[in-house]
Amino acid sequence: MKIRKAVFPAAGLGTRFLPATKSMPKEMLTLVDKPLIQYGVEEAVASGIESILIVTGRDKASIENHFDISFELEQVLRERGKTKILEEVRALSEIAKISYTRQKQALGLGHAIYQAKEFVGDEPFAVMLPDDVMDAKTPALGQLIKIYEKYDAPVIATMQIAGEAISRFGVIDAEEVEPNVFKIRDVVEKPKFEDAPSDMAVIGRYIFTPEIFAALENTKPGAGGEIQVADAIRELLEKGRPFYAAKLDGVRHDAGDKLGFLIATVEFALQREDLGADFREYLKNLKL
Ligand code: G1P
Repeated sequence: MKIRKAVFPAAGLGTRFLPATKSMPKEMLTLVDKPLIQYGVEEAVASGIESILIVTGRDKASIENHFDISFELEQVLRERGKTKILEEVRALSEIAKISYTRQKQALGLGHAIYQAKEFVGDEPFAVMLPDDVMDAKTPALGQLIKIYEKYDAPVIATMQIAGEAISRFGVIDAEEVEPNVFKIRDVVEKPKFEDAPSDMAVIGRYIFTPEIFAALENTKPGAGGEIQVADAIRELLEKGRPFYAAKLDGVRHDAGDKLGFLIATVEFALQREDLGADFREYLKNLKL
């Protein structure tokens, strides 16, 4: 079945990016001139997604405004003859069918995904974490969808993480079934470095079937006292449901982290036709 729907959990408190995120959603942090969530939505659309649910929380109205029509702004741009940016702003409000639901309490990623149960209905769907910004020639989610279609089973994105940093991720134990595709045996959310089953981290792109919702209903709070989607995946694995993981082509930036955000900013700025050359010149002249 075609993957048409994507869910964006965007209700987190953004504690890793305070004070910027005290009154502003972390999903609206800007890489050059686009908020993180726009990169994700563009990736989804480029991967064939038609309908998006953004799971928001308190103080997230600016996300909705970003994808809505802004009459006043459009009027001013039109009057000033700023056609190019007007088109860009206009296109944003038509980019996809986007709906919103509120996660009333930040009880964890699994709980956020559960809020999408009605929206998803009876079809496979994607989950995209907006902090994980993917820089890839072929849209990262599209790559994952291909694997889903081939194996006809849920699949999650993975990458190798060296050293102790692995304990900040979900970590899989898996067997390679073809280059860069793995069948998952187990997954553990944020294990201690010594307990990690491998160096393969879960990154924020998933394809699930609606079975995940039944599993989430049984999921007790896990790592960090939160309802973790990794624990729901584990329950399905224990029941013998196949799950795959895929290493994707491209670079993942953790833009919800201050250093990751700075790196992503530099990389994206260097790629820009309008800014790249000048920015490169500036960086070259830095006496580091
Ligand atoms: C979430 C997931 C984790 C995954 C990570 C990827 O954790 O729970 O399994 O490895 O995203 O970014 P978070 O970063 O929200 O704590």
